[in-house]
Amino acid sequence: MDAIEIQGGTPLVGEVTVSGSKNATLPMLCAALLAKGQSRFFDVPALADLRTMGRLLAHMGASIDPLSAPPGLGTTLSIDASTIGNPEAPYELVKTMRAAVLVLGPLVARLGHARVSLPGGCAIGARPIDQHLKGLTALGAKIELAHGYVEARADRLVGTHFNFDLPTVTGTENLMMAASLAEGQTVLENCAREPEIEALATMLNAMGARVHGAGSSTITIDGVSSLRPVDSMVVPDRIEAGTLMAAAVITGGDVLVRRAPAPHLEALTSKLREAGAKVTVEADGVRVVGPARPNPIDVITAPHPGYPTDLQAQLMACLCVSTGASRVVETVFENRFMHVQELRRLGADIAVEGNTALVRGQPELQGAPVMATDLRASASLVLAGLRASGTTTVSRVYHLDRGYDGLEKKLAALGARIVRVREA
Ligand code: UD1
Repeated sequence: MDAIEIQGGTPLVGEVTVSGSKNATLPMLCAALLAKGQSRFFDVPALADLRTMGRLLAHMGASIDPLSAPPGLGTTLSIDASTIGNPEAPYELVKTMRAAVLVLGPLVARLGHARVSLPGGCAIGARPIDQHLKGLTALGAKIELAHGYVEARADRLVGTHFNFDLPTVTGTENLMMAASLAEGQTVLENCAREPEIEALATMLNAMGARVHGAGSSTITIDGVSSLRPVDSMVVPDRIEAGTLMAAAVITGGDVLVRRAPAPHLEALTSKLREAGAKVTVEADGVRVVGPARPNPIDVITAPHPGYPTDLQAQLMACLCVSTGASRVVETVFENRFMHVQELRRLGADIAVEGNTALVRGQPELQGAPVMATDLRASASLVLAGLRASGTTTVSRVYHLDRGYDGLEKKLAALGARIVRVREA
């Protein structure tokens, strides 16, 4: 198993380019199931979660071709879903990646049948899929739960008016895809407004769908009888961009994060400015100059456009070396403080009560062996290691590899002393 070894204490300086977005690519690959023929994707990041999704689509009978990339377009992937015949997402694949539930909507819409393993518990909370199922039921699907699987059937889905009980990102995406092939109009209310939903709508509309309002809380979809395959460019990853911006802050560095999608990072940008960083939006990205030590700040996670839960752990790492006491409140997931125990091993002073963490900034952190328990927690430990004196070894890097394309290489190019090592 790989680990990341970091000799901390070097301010990061230079330029780095953000890869394509994991959370935008996942639903887009599933949207390829809605059409017969070859869909092509450009600038696909090299991530374990996307390989898992590829395996899942292949299991259903789709042909996946990792084409070589045309210059400047990153990794190119093609999916031909003409031949899908096995509408099943097995437990072995769903348990490693909850986003596998995104095949549910497209499969019922295209084949009239889907059998998808229930995702089960997840390290960062219960994460049920009741909203996905309620929405599909409203679209006329018959849902049964048996033997740990969801079975959904419908001859043809029928447009409906559905109000989400709470905004869910993949839930909104699943229903948007399903409704695209339904008969008549669907109106979805209280939708999640994350930019990845807009990216999916752009692809669906290019395929011939009629989706309006994605990115707002009400989305209207006029169903069509068929969709065609298209070429799509993946948008830059705002969470990777935010992680690199936080890396500049925690090391007191000066980094231009190329392709950082500034309009989608406003919640982070304003928090980093409050913490004393200089954040400038430039023509091709965002430049961040970190303070010697951040100011203490309060932050509350919330659905977009609020502060993203996927950047909570990384900001908390920065606050561990702030000049005072900060409060971090997690409202999206009920158990997303697993990084706290490990940050403490590096000398952080953090008290947790319920969904609130009180972080008392320390002048410095000390390197230590730490172990990541989820994707963004891993990123926060890498960031803390960049600041800590001495050596930090972050184990279980497979979590990091699920969502970051060569993070250690990007950080090394900015001057970090960081290497990937093979653990005994
Ligand atoms: C997506 C992102 C993930 C991010 C999260 C919140 C992808 C592939 N993943 O996950 O990186 O952390 O959004 O921004 O895009 N919920 C229910 N019932 C449901 C669905 C969700 O109660 O049917 C709850 C969840 O438990 C959670 C909240 O709603 O508390 C938000 O979850 P959701 O937006 O669905 O997260 P994901 O789409 O799984």
